[in-house]
Amino acid sequence: MLCAKNITKKFASNGSVVPVLKEVSVDIAEGEFVSIVGRSGSGKTTLLNILSTLVRADDGELYYQNNNLSTLSESHLNRLRQADFSVIFQFHHLLPYFTVLENTLLPFMRSLRSVNKEAVQKAHQCLDRVGLADKADRLPGNLSGGEQQRVAIARALVKSSKVLFADEPTGSLDKATGKQIMGLLSELHEEGLTVVMVTHEPAYAQLAERIVTIEDGLISSPADRHFFL
Ligand SMILES: Nc1ncnc2c1ncn2[C@@H]1O[C@H](COP(=O)(O)OP(=O)(O)O)[C@@H](O)[C@H]1O
Ligand SMILES: [Mg+2]
Repeated sequence: MLCAKNITKKFASNGSVVPVLKEVSVDIAEGEFVSIVGRSGSGKTTLLNILSTLVRADDGELYYQNNNLSTLSESHLNRLRQADFSVIFQFHHLLPYFTVLENTLLPFMRSLRSVNKEAVQKAHQCLDRVGLADKADRLPGNLSGGEQQRVAIARALVKSSKVLFADEPTGSLDKATGKQIMGLLSELHEEGLTVVMVTHEPAYAQLAERIVTIEDGLISSPADRHFFL
């Protein structure tokens, strides 16, 4: 479904150029739950951002449903992301002056007119799903870290996407809350969503069907070798 081939990415740092990803290839099947692990600074976020088309690779190709995305214009990519992709960031990126309900509706807010009754209804359903039905009118600042992350999940669910990208969704949470978030992600995967999650928690990585390990800018987990056979 999503296939990255020989992706390279370099960043300039203190006058020198540092390669972060060196010809990384990953192949993610429809409906799969893949976790990406690796030590801090190993390029996990960079890889996730490239897979979700938020960042462009320097070299290599990215295919989604057999279309080569590497050559698409920004406006094409925007449309694709809108239609098919959802992203949960490590730091939920909620807007502080918007209520929980409004934050959940953000994916529909390209224009105010696009927020119709059905969208509001769907947002309420998603908040109910993550256990926040009674907090729709609160501001994010009044919620706990776990609740804020659950709003971010509700926001990722509000439009029915095909692939969910999550960057350390449990990163800033205590164990119990982290487990709850992981339970939600597993449920979504069981319902057919393709989930690509970055984590440095081995216990959470195990919940995925497949673990991809990044080390020294390369993928080192044998589990991914099937791609090359
Ligand atoms: N926009 C950027 N500009 C410069 N360096 C960056 C940028 N993004 C990431 N890096 C560097 O690339 C490396 C990998 O970063 P990242 O993908 O965030 O790693 P991880 O998520 O595994 O911790 C780090 O050394 C980081 O400092
Ligand atoms: Mg990261």
